[in-house]
Amino acid sequence: MNDQSSIVGRPLDRVDGPLKTCGVARYAAEFFPSNLAYAVIVQSTVPAGKVRLDVSAARAMPGVVFILTHDNAPELPQKGRGAVNPPAGRTLSLMQDDDVHYNGEPIAVVVADTFEIASEAASRIRVDYATAPASLSFEQAKSSAYKPEKLTRDQPDKSWGDVDAGLGAAAVRVDHVYTTSMEHHNPMEPHATVAHWEGDRLTVYDATQYVSGVRETLSKTLGVPVEKIRVVDPFVGGGFGCKGSAWSHVALAALVARAAQRPVKLVMARWQMFGPVGGRPRTEQRVLLAAQRDGKLTALRHDVISHTSVMEDYAEASTAPTRALYACESGAVTQRLVKLNVGVPTFQRAPGESTGTFAVESAMDELAYELGMDPVALRLRNYAEAEPSTGKPFTSKRLRECYALAARKFGWARRNPKPGSMRDGRQLIGWGMATATYPAHRQPASASARLLRDGTVLVQSGTHDLGTGTYTIMTQIAADALGMPFERVRFELGDTMMPKAPVSGGSTTASSVGPAVQEACRALREKIVNAAIADGGSPLYRAAATDVDLRDGTLVARNGRRETLGALASRQSAPIEAKGDAKPDEAQKTASRSFGALFVEVRVDPATGVLRVPRVVAAYTVGRLMNAKTARSQLQGGIVWGLSQALFEKSLLDERYGRFVNGNLAEYHVPVNADIQAIDVDFVDENDTAFNPLGARGIGEIGITGVAGAVANAVFHATGKRIRDLPITLDKLIA
Ligand code: MOS
Repeated sequence: MNDQSSIVGRPLDRVDGPLKTCGVARYAAEFFPSNLAYAVIVQSTVPAGKVRLDVSAARAMPGVVFILTHDNAPELPQKGRGAVNPPAGRTLSLMQDDDVHYNGEPIAVVVADTFEIASEAASRIRVDYATAPASLSFEQAKSSAYKPEKLTRDQPDKSWGDVDAGLGAAAVRVDHVYTTSMEHHNPMEPHATVAHWEGDRLTVYDATQYVSGVRETLSKTLGVPVEKIRVVDPFVGGGFGCKGSAWSHVALAALVARAAQRPVKLVMARWQMFGPVGGRPRTEQRVLLAAQRDGKLTALRHDVISHTSVMEDYAEASTAPTRALYACESGAVTQRLVKLNVGVPTFQRAPGESTGTFAVESAMDELAYELGMDPVALRLRNYAEAEPSTGKPFTSKRLRECYALAARKFGWARRNPKPGSMRDGRQLIGWGMATATYPAHRQPASASARLLRDGTVLVQSGTHDLGTGTYTIMTQIAADALGMPFERVRFELGDTMMPKAPVSGGSTTASSVGPAVQEACRALREKIVNAAIADGGSPLYRAAATDVDLRDGTLVARNGRRETLGALASRQSAPIEAKGDAKPDEAQKTASRSFGALFVEVRVDPATGVLRVPRVVAAYTVGRLMNAKTARSQLQGGIVWGLSQALFEKSLLDERYGRFVNGNLAEYHVPVNADIQAIDVDFVDENDTAFNPLGARGIGEIGITGVAGAVANAVFHATGKRIRDLPITLDKLIA
């Protein structure tokens, strides 16, 4: 297959598009087993203490089926707080005792014939609290900051080279503190679970990024063998990390369904998305950059404090980009945690990189001004050919070309670097830039492929489509590997009955599942050829396997004989099928990372502080694109979220009660169409086959990275005000 004929890469429309636009695609909450009952979670309204519940009035309501509290909760195999420790590492709230750890923690579940009855009954539960002192102030908790055991993929602390010598050799230093806010994911589809027991077998329809992870969590939590549990989720309405692990409500739905002896549906309300299902932690980041006069970095430090829950450690790896972004002979990074009485924070789109790039890209801009140097030139002066903290060379990196391409399209050469120098009437114009980056990883994955009697091929893997395009790109990969037209291949996902796939998080689905699909389809193609040449009824009977090709759905022998797959399949007594497994090379001596260059224009009204972003121009080096259309859409969506992080998003914690005062989409601000103007996304061609046989690195998360830094840098250029605290709201501009 040469590249002209390749289906991979083409900007094809989503295969699931019509299903979604017609409302046929079924999301987790849209499964209705017969005799379905409805569950509503009751949450704590205090941040710490003990709880006592009186459910008598609720239980007396007609239509109420069952109420779960710590008084009647079944004793779970690993009982007690912290003992339930599923693979994703979540400490669940399953009413094994009367302790309250945060405001919003589940303390009861009501099951009723209808959602309305369950909601009303939930409001009739009387709750008394013996409150205990709670840790709710990040500032106060900082004095007891501690080092976590681990980051997601690294040690919390790392140093390389001689930092003291590097500082000594520097002519210029910048040393500032940058802060980012708590955020909550809020995909359009909230968390939802339908739990259905048939005897000792459990089927769960769950809004998740990880069907097999949910299965394992439920297995360990409930003490039910994995083979007895099936988890299904064909469509996910956005995930962004909050659906990467199974939270309490999933196990609670299974528990109450078992107790009620009825299938149960539990859907989180929008306001319940603020607390019990993760969020991005608050960070405080000190960045020190030291450089020679010519801009060469000689030392860097990045010290991060982020919050976690009293229940469990989750560390936001904001130092991750600093370890990998710029060539610097010496560096030291540290990560510390403070414990608060809030729900456990978790991965949120580009965890670590999103918050970390804000700090380090702001600091680079500050350094550029100190040096009187162009910010692009400063980045090129410190361009890293290998990962600075490990010395590992990158498998492929074309960031230089990204800076050049995006700068040219933006018109960066026309920038007057002096802050406040560019105006349009009374509006101040600011141009800023930043680097985007996110690592590439792979995990083991499996897929199957089967020739059906109608001559089409069904490919399956227990992976997920979060709205990203998985259905479409896997169909493209399969069609290419088989030699079949795109329309004659169907790809299915989202079911633990299918071959196992990893969590769809960390931008790893294309890079992990893609090669497994490719393997399965290559193996099937070989079996198809062998079946034809062994089949007396085929025109290809007794041809040499090496002489037979499968092209566009037809088997063609070198001597010109041919047979369509449909004809071959119609004579099959049993389906021809194959499995494919793929896994990364464990002993990798290289680093794989994606990069991008972002250029942003802001316009600020100096009197009101109103800030607009009329245009963003970005270019990325992300490996080979599987589908040019869905890829662009991923990057644009990521940039929109970056603008949201830069300008709007903040979960406001009331430090008296531990409640989020803006826990709804009316007051938790996200951009609307009027906030988003031109976003120009481009790519520098790449084919990173040293990372993965498809040459793809994954694109789900890099889009959000660097954006907030670029906006902050543009704001400084416009106004001369350096805003080191996200979001950049107008009060900070007129202060
Ligand atoms: Mo992503 S935050 O790893 O789903």
